[in-house]
Amino acid sequence: MAPTAEVIKPNSTDFDLEEAVVSIARLNTNSKKRDFRSSYKGGFADSWVERLPSTTRERLEKAGVDLSRGYPERPPTEDIPIFLDQAEAIRSTETPYIERGKNADPEKKALFSAAKEVRNLTKHIGTEIIGLQLKDLNDKQKDELALLIAERVVVFFRDQDLSPQKQLELGSYWGTVEKHAQQVHVPGLHGITVIWQDLFRRNGLDINFKNAVGQGTSIWHTDLTHELQPPGITHLHNDAIPDVGGDTVWSSGYAAYDKLSPAFQEFLEGKTAIYISANKYVDRENPLRGSANIEREHPIIRTHPATGWKSLFVNRSMTRRIVGLEPEESKVILEYLFEVFEKNLDIQVRFNWKPTKEGLGTSALWDNRVSQHFAVWDHEGKEERHGTRVSSLAEVPYFDPESKSQREALGLN
Ligand SMILES: [Fe+2]
Repeated sequence: MAPTAEVIKPNSTDFDLEEAVVSIARLNTNSKKRDFRSSYKGGFADSWVERLPSTTRERLEKAGVDLSRGYPERPPTEDIPIFLDQAEAIRSTETPYIERGKNADPEKKALFSAAKEVRNLTKHIGTEIIGLQLKDLNDKQKDELALLIAERVVVFFRDQDLSPQKQLELGSYWGTVEKHAQQVHVPGLHGITVIWQDLFRRNGLDINFKNAVGQGTSIWHTDLTHELQPPGITHLHNDAIPDVGGDTVWSSGYAAYDKLSPAFQEFLEGKTAIYISANKYVDRENPLRGSANIEREHPIIRTHPATGWKSLFVNRSMTRRIVGLEPEESKVILEYLFEVFEKNLDIQVRFNWKPTKEGLGTSALWDNRVSQHFAVWDHEGKEERHGTRVSSLAEVPYFDPESKSQREALGLN
């Protein structure tokens, strides 16, 4: 059945059918119970107000977020897609996108002159801006920040007094805010996704000291690459931060591209790959297949619309195969490309989120089009870590054969 509307809401027949089809799908021994929507409920079923870290609770209450019905909130059960075709129909047509960094002042005078200090954390990736509140930025500064994020891949702001509403407003300036069809969000603010491993563990995420690499967000990944227009600027604001550890690492897609030989770059340019969703859905056409991911085709090398630089756009979690190659060829090549991001420490930045002032949070804004990230789970859930994320959807990924690499454009070769 071809999807015709943007969102196909399940009806009562679907719920009956779901029960039957999911029962059949569970006969597939490879499927996991938690893959299916029926293993959790929408609304406030996850309610965990009593476990909210004190700094998070203070931030939410100061912002007037209503916690009386519970925390966090999930879309209503009846709005959560059951079947793959329903999930695929969400945001399946292109929406306009304005690249805010494109016409910004390359010297970023309005942004930099308002800051106490602008500090590059490594040569190739990561900048920290000190002495500036994100909530106070004007449009000119937001444009310049968009360009800075595009150039430096990730930009950090400690000691932020930032409400979820303001975070949402900032994200809306940089693109259409992604509203996840089933993930948890701040009550009343669909579009502010809650990133809270403790809650995810309660809901079945199997992460511990032994297996910490490869679980949840502790795996190299790029967010939401199954979207038709995957996010550009992605803003995670952590409001509960471990005293020691809980760092995040980012790796640059521009630099990963520049690590490749010209011959290999040429081989990859113009090729596409299949990117999958993190969440799975029931394939009504083939229930015995078990649950299935959404799949989307994107270019492997993409051009950033603001910098005009080429970037390698693959990641271990979400890139399934290269189109046009034999499965074994695709596997070998992708494994090598993943390792370029993961093993070259000179194209990474590792950031500790701790603020310098108690009670304030820290923001990281990264360009999801040109990076991967990895959350280090060394705190083992023994110290609280909670954040809210806003993802601004960007352009449909494209490759411009006339575009340059970062090193070429900056004269670094
Ligand atoms: Fe992520």
